[in-house]
Amino acid sequence: MAMTDVAAAGEHRGAWPFDIRPLSGLMAAEILDLDLAQPVGDAMRDSILAALNRYKVLAFRNQTLTAAAQAAFTRRFGELEPHVNRDFRSEGIPEVHPVNNLDENKRPSRGIKNIGNYAWHTDKSYMARPSLATLLYAVQLPPAGGDTEFADLQAAYDALPEERKRSLEPLRVVHSWERSRQKSGSKLATEDEKRDAPPVVHPLVRTHPATGRKGIYIGNHTSHVEGWPVEKGEALLADLLDFATQERFVYRHQWRSGDMVMWDNRCLVHRAIANFEMAKHARVLNRTVVRGDVPV
Ligand SMILES: [Fe+2]
Repeated sequence: MAMTDVAAAGEHRGAWPFDIRPLSGLMAAEILDLDLAQPVGDAMRDSILAALNRYKVLAFRNQTLTAAAQAAFTRRFGELEPHVNRDFRSEGIPEVHPVNNLDENKRPSRGIKNIGNYAWHTDKSYMARPSLATLLYAVQLPPAGGDTEFADLQAAYDALPEERKRSLEPLRVVHSWERSRQKSGSKLATEDEKRDAPPVVHPLVRTHPATGRKGIYIGNHTSHVEGWPVEKGEALLADLLDFATQERFVYRHQWRSGDMVMWDNRCLVHRAIANFEMAKHARVLNRTVVRGDVPV
């Protein structure tokens, strides 16, 4: 049975093997009764994947996960990736990336760290095989805020006029870690990073490998449209990103203690929201990333 059929059958019968509830009319669902620190069998793994294909964002509530347990759960979905930016590789488990607002003394830092996370992006689209899914576990949260927003690139594509869809279909887009760092005003890419992640080209209209749905594959890691004057391509990509991130396509996740959030990078862009007192409160998360397929 194909993944989409599993999702449809499960929904029809109310037969998901977990307690799952939608978080918005657009996408995202919470799963209330799974302990991800326990081993996950193949059938459960397949059901989680079917739920991910259906809802795009899954929030597993009330988790208590060590970095090793998070890595073990993530590994059930494929190969884990280290981070391109060497500053982000943790000493213990290089595939678990610390995401936090702490300075070198482990205290909340005054300026915004990792400013690229605040620009709409889809993880690792600057790689030949970008991320299938990202998993982010809340280790420590501020009292309020520190939200994450997700925009649905398939819903945005569906909303485009048919003629526009046809004009976008043949276009291919250059994605670049180096360009991404420039655009977001981040510390520029090092020579090592540029060597690790040279520019790649992906189709502008991406077909989801599990569901067959089409979406606009864009975000802050894009550089320009292949074969077009750079400025013209940049303008098109900026225009499409504005369109796709309108409120009607966006779900905002308000984190709860114990949340492990898993999302599908093949059909979403996301960004962090700076809506908490960063100089005062710590926000600490652990991230793992599953390597995906070459976009088609
Ligand atoms: Fe990200």
